[in-house]
Amino acid sequence: MKKHRDVWDRDIEQILLSEGELDEIVTRMAAQIDADYRDKNLLLLCILKGSLVFMGDLMKKLTIPCEIDCMKVSSYGNGSVSSGRIHILLDLHRQDLSEKDILIIEDIIDSGRTLSYLISYLQMGGARSVRAATLLDKPSRREVDYTPDYVGRAIPDVFVVGYGLDYGEKYRSLPYVGILKPEIYEAK
Ligand code: IMP
Ligand code: MG
Repeated sequence: MKKHRDVWDRDIEQILLSEGELDEIVTRMAAQIDADYRDKNLLLLCILKGSLVFMGDLMKKLTIPCEIDCMKVSSYGNGSVSSGRIHILLDLHRQDLSEKDILIIEDIIDSGRTLSYLISYLQMGGARSVRAATLLDKPSRREVDYTPDYVGRAIPDVFVVGYGLDYGEKYRSLPYVGILKPEIYEAK
């Protein structure tokens, strides 16, 4: 029987970040966060579903205590183009955020709309501090003025999948980040 991996691998034009490179990036980011949040009350906030794999790997590498939580938001339809509007699909149900230092864990920043919206939303919710760590950043795509606090790797304007990132809910389980062949989404 064909494994999903074998089928999906064929839709990848180029591996952008191998498992080894991802491990190095996540290790470096965890060390920075460890140092910066030593005297804080860290709440890691995973933005579902794209950040699931990154969050899992990152939190295992932290040595400081932290709590975790999840939110689900959507800015994309089903395809590769952002709709520009943010919907909260799963909210953070916490009584008191006033002693929490929230670090949003994001898979990738494109227009910047999701993160700038989320940051003001959580600040209004009373968090003591709100910052963001993203595995990938496409700075050339920015539509709002936003600079993340921690960036794993800045990448050019290409559509990537794997390591949690999807196209139409596929490819999330690939262990690397790869550039999707344009014919896959142009055919739609
Ligand atoms: P933004 O609000 O435009 O910054 O959108 C960020 C969100 O768009 C990410 O959390 C992803 O879910 C999605 N996204 C942006 N670029 C890509 C990509 O290359 N591959 C997969 N998802 C992407
Ligand atoms: Mg996302």
